[in-house]
Amino acid sequence: MSAAREHFGSRLGFVLAAAGSAVGIGNLVSFPVAATKSGGGAFLLVYALFVFLICLPVMMAELALGRKSDKDPVGAYRQLSGGSRLWRIPGWFALITPFMIAVFYMVVTVWILGYLVEVFKGNLGLLATEAYFGEFINSKTVFLYLIALMLIINGVLSMGVKDGIERAAKTLMPMLFVMLLVLVLFVLTRENAMLGVQYYLIPDFSKLTSEVVSKAMSQAFFSLSLGMGIMITYGSYMKRRDSIPGSARAVAITDTLVAVTAGLLILPSIFHFNPQIDTTTLSDSSAGMIFLFLPKIFLSLQDSIGYAGASIFAGAFFFLVFIAALTSLVSIIEVPVATLRDERGMSRRKAIYTIAAIQLVLAVGCAMSFGMADWLTQFVTLAGSNKSFFDLVEILFYDTILPLNGLLVCIFVIYKWKKANFDAELQEGDKAFAGSLSQKYVNFSLGTFIPAILLLIFINTVALKFFGSSIF
Ligand code: PFF
Repeated sequence: MSAAREHFGSRLGFVLAAAGSAVGIGNLVSFPVAATKSGGGAFLLVYALFVFLICLPVMMAELALGRKSDKDPVGAYRQLSGGSRLWRIPGWFALITPFMIAVFYMVVTVWILGYLVEVFKGNLGLLATEAYFGEFINSKTVFLYLIALMLIINGVLSMGVKDGIERAAKTLMPMLFVMLLVLVLFVLTRENAMLGVQYYLIPDFSKLTSEVVSKAMSQAFFSLSLGMGIMITYGSYMKRRDSIPGSARAVAITDTLVAVTAGLLILPSIFHFNPQIDTTTLSDSSAGMIFLFLPKIFLSLQDSIGYAGASIFAGAFFFLVFIAALTSLVSIIEVPVATLRDERGMSRRKAIYTIAAIQLVLAVGCAMSFGMADWLTQFVTLAGSNKSFFDLVEILFYDTILPLNGLLVCIFVIYKWKKANFDAELQEGDKAFAGSLSQKYVNFSLGTFIPAILLLIFINTVALKFFGSSIF
């Protein structure tokens, strides 16, 4: 068996590590892009409601599962279900999902690292050319960056929970907050920046279609790192004297603030670049935004601050996104590492090597599915269109299984593990939670409308992604 379980050293350490997980590409790019295209302030409002009314109770449920069982997700479901065979299935889902999401997220992070290095080499002009992205992602250097990235992530993980994950978060997260603020303050002083702020914050409720509402929900769920086994695993490293509701609230607030602030960086930059921009022409995807559009915007800053100034700005931005992605990857790869340790009694080092070897093969497959290997580029046909191996991993694990995992957590906690046990765990370290309005809300919502909403999203995604028709 493995040695005594490690814990985060302090509540702040836990909050920063969990916020490190939550703050990722989702906050810095996907959120601003989604808000821009979907009604600005109106999207923000719906998003914030989803974060606090729906995602926060799910986060508390995941943390409680982890802390009560003191185990990885597979062990948590096994132990708290009293060994039920049926309830082993969500445990396995909560293991495979992070494992596979890490694979495709790693590939995008590798591209970010590649862009960061190019900017520092003085090649911002090259990144802003149309053809560069396609050439870069199909070049062999991608594999070198992949190995470098895996060394960094696994280096942090090998130092353990307190000296690795927590220390990295305590160093990197404050740095991320400061850099983000500095970049925002700089951008706000640029010409036409306020047009961007107006566009971003003034609500346009006419854009709130059912599709947008469902997008806001999925975005909030992904952004808080839910349904990925991460919060169950991190919960198992929490001290019993710390408050789960209080810590979860701090993580949700931090994550949302970073997402909203990132919009104040992206939108003013876009409007400085082109005050007449038609935002419907902006790419829907984060990758399109980061790798095709933003380099052009950064380069255009050379008119006012010179090429070196524009490169420093671009470098700072890519570094920011890289740190955010890195701390997210550390958290997600810790899930399978914890499982191998808890379930198989492996040492941390052996677990890390085992996971890294399998993930390397799968990540290489994902990286090669943009043209390097035809069979990976046209891996399957879904709803009548060709999908690459990368697309398939994203559709299966991020789009589809994530809401299903959330749904299973709610049902498990309220109906199998039981409300009273869940309540007792939440009150541990937070006596004031007992009998509070917040407690009543969490209990009621997790047993009723939250799983219903997640079920709807799951059904709609299956209909849309696999059968090509949406139910709403
Ligand atoms: N919360 C992360 C984000 O917003 O980007 C989601 C995430 C993705 C966490 C990938 C971890 C990860 F490896």
